[in-house]
Amino acid sequence: MIEKIKVYGKQKANGKVHISGAKNAALPLLAAALLSSDGMRLKNVPPLTDVTTMLALLENLGITYQVFKDSHYANSIKLKTDALENFTAPYEIVKKMRASALVLGPLLSRLGRCRVSLPGGCAIGVRPIDLHLKGMEALGATIELRDGYVHASAPEGLRGAEFTFPIVTVTGTENVVMAAVLANGTTVLKNAAREPEVVDLANCLNKMGANISGHGTETVVIHGVTSLRSTEHTVVPDRIEAGTYAIAAGITNGRIDLLGGDFRKLLPSFLDKMELAGLSFSSIDNGLRVESSGKILPIDVDTEPFPGYPTDLQAQCMAMLCLADGKSNIRENIWENRFMHVAELMRMGADISVAGTHAQVRGVKHLTAAPVMATDLRASFSLILAALAADGDTVIDRVYHLDRGYCCVKEKFADCGIAIERIK
Ligand code: EPU
Repeated sequence: MIEKIKVYGKQKANGKVHISGAKNAALPLLAAALLSSDGMRLKNVPPLTDVTTMLALLENLGITYQVFKDSHYANSIKLKTDALENFTAPYEIVKKMRASALVLGPLLSRLGRCRVSLPGGCAIGVRPIDLHLKGMEALGATIELRDGYVHASAPEGLRGAEFTFPIVTVTGTENVVMAAVLANGTTVLKNAAREPEVVDLANCLNKMGANISGHGTETVVIHGVTSLRSTEHTVVPDRIEAGTYAIAAGITNGRIDLLGGDFRKLLPSFLDKMELAGLSFSSIDNGLRVESSGKILPIDVDTEPFPGYPTDLQAQCMAMLCLADGKSNIRENIWENRFMHVAELMRMGADISVAGTHAQVRGVKHLTAAPVMATDLRASFSLILAALAADGDTVIDRVYHLDRGYCCVKEKFADCGIAIERIK
């Protein structure tokens, strides 16, 4: 039986939330384990189905692992990587999670060849991996697309090269960095992604013995080394989870202490926008306090690569702006189809019109409960947020999307005085 979530309306947040490790950092870090035969220990890994999928993929390649539960929202994972025996990422796993493509760079780098299923379509956009492949080709790999698979080989090993990404790609940058760390010579990546998750990966790789500099800027330089060693690494806090709970404080006219990271550094543009929308932030021990001013003001938001406003906080922000005192404009510049939550929010009484990648949100006085359906990970949380402020109790279907990227939602909300229920 597929689970649903029931959200009681008109609730007010007051409490604290422990922010987990970032999904989008944990996934490339797990793939990076493939680069060394000495194993790896990752701490602060969020218990999410996407992490389980990546572990299943690694297991399929010959990696063994143990999971240790450090708290209800963080695991440590010990990976044994000496018996890497397979070089295929099969369709059955890749179709569940596009980030599976992150094994391409490490496999090619360590084994000189790999076979990775092409990911299929996705709810938020076409999401090709052509730039990952162009980067690998620049490093000397031969790429063939056959039978729905990418067949990549570099029998003589990869060699350092200069490559400019025509557009900023997060996992593309991560994949090519992982391919380049064991390449012969120096690689210079231009127009690289600057996301904190890319920086976290590069920091971990450097602890393993890689020689990467410039991560966090547009130009990343990688001097190839001959091998990498074991390391222990703690996953960076999830800025998107932190931003999502900040909006929970805003939409419920409440207050939440976000614990576990330097969120001012991780969410610069988001915090600026939220201040304009009426939220206030103050530094506390090990985190940030978010407080509503009691009013939601209209704002204009353009999603952009880091350090710009993150696309992964667009749907949640839109839910809050549905109740703003005026008109807001949202431009989604990363994904061509990331407004699927609009139709669901309108079922709850929102007044939104969409033209291409621009949405205009005209604030209404009230949202009302309605049965709604989650369409993707971030959209599913936007519906929970709208439901917390709505009149009546909302039931959200297809919440398996939520479990891919948000852990312990019920428990975390309980810590700030909010009740939601999972129902069959
Ligand atoms: N793109 C290409 N060709 C490529 C790669 C990307 O055209 O080879 C395009 C995409 O279609 C998109 C843009 O470039 O229009 C940016 O995509 P990017 O490659 O940066 O996205 P991604 O690496 O596949 C990661 C996150 C996403 C997040 C985006 C943007 C992971 C595992 N996923 O995806 O997270 O939205 O960066 O910040 O890191 C989520 O967590 O909900 C999520 C979707």
